[in-house]
Amino acid sequence: MRVLVTGGSGFIGSHVVDRLLAAGHEPVIYDLRPSPWHVDADPAIPTVIGEITDRAALEAALSEQRIDVVAHLAAVADVNDVHADPETAEIVNSRGTAAVLEAMRRVGVSRVVFASTIWVYSDTEAAVVDEETLLPAPAHLYTSTKLAGELYCRSYQELYGIEYTVLRFGIPYGPRAREAAVVPSFVNRALAGEALVLSGDGSQSRRFVYVEDLAQGVVDGLADVAVNRVYNLVSDEDVTIRQIAELVGEYVGDVEVVVGPARPGDLGSKVVLGARAEAELGWTAQTSFGEGVRRYIDWKRAQTGEPDAELAGV
Ligand SMILES: NC(=O)c1ccc[n+]([C@@H]2O[C@H](COP(=O)([O-])OP(=O)(O)OC[C@H]3O[C@@H](n4cnc5c(N)ncnc54)[C@H](O)[C@@H]3O)[C@@H](O)[C@H]2O)c1
Repeated sequence: MRVLVTGGSGFIGSHVVDRLLAAGHEPVIYDLRPSPWHVDADPAIPTVIGEITDRAALEAALSEQRIDVVAHLAAVADVNDVHADPETAEIVNSRGTAAVLEAMRRVGVSRVVFASTIWVYSDTEAAVVDEETLLPAPAHLYTSTKLAGELYCRSYQELYGIEYTVLRFGIPYGPRAREAAVVPSFVNRALAGEALVLSGDGSQSRRFVYVEDLAQGVVDGLADVAVNRVYNLVSDEDVTIRQIAELVGEYVGDVEVVVGPARPGDLGSKVVLGARAEAELGWTAQTSFGEGVRRYIDWKRAQTGEPDAELAGV
């Protein structure tokens, strides 16, 4: 299938491009910038430089590139960026998703896989949540914009027959991650010999997911069984922020861990279940957290020319 990957130059999107290629699909990137991770790709990855709110440009990309399905990942994905510029986040995330769906409707592309987030569960009362959990109005604007995207997918299916798959991503980490994310920032600080700062006491747990596993989940989300379904893509491993700091310290060397302020609108310690993705898509997160962090550190060291963990005898 020819798949338009919006946000295909980003952290997760670039891995989606790789996994699509590996699965025999033909990815086409739609992004504000070319992928820094595919500069030397052979053959080159077709890329359309465009703004996600530009419906006319999206329509042109869909028809000129003969697209079968859209994997929609373009977004303001960093909650700190959302906090700093909420209006842009609302335009890009919510209206951008509406523009994608509307361009699809006009051109006649009738299948979308939408990148959502397990942050949609942030405001639920339940300690254990799955795709059937009813969602109260979210506190964080990032979550509101992603939930709006989910709702628009549902509405376009009902009104115009566009088939959707909503994938609620767990917290991704791995090669190409944004520097501000918790694993990269801990690794960078540790490699620089600086203290690791926890948000709150660090006891909040996360279900992280290794980015290549997540990207495989997007490919699996193209299956017919996934039409008009919602899936959590999470691992079944709970990791506290403090454990991450300790793991990074173990791999990189002795580092100091200090307690900082808690983050507003945080997901907290909720257990998000991923059983549906396993049962229906056959998808599970294959990479353990320890293995994933080790691969990330090796990748990071390779980027900066340092010896990897294996060579360093870690
Ligand atoms: N990283 C996370 O923690 C996380 C967690 C859950 C869900 N998600 C979702 O996964 C998706 C990808 O996130 P990511 O971490 O790879 O983010 P990223 O910032 O690395 O990638 C986003 C990509 O979208 C592009 N983009 C941004 N604004 C655009 C615009 N106006 N027009 C066209 N392209 C634009 C960027 O250039 C970038 O390449 C997002 O939809 C995000 O909400 C991310």
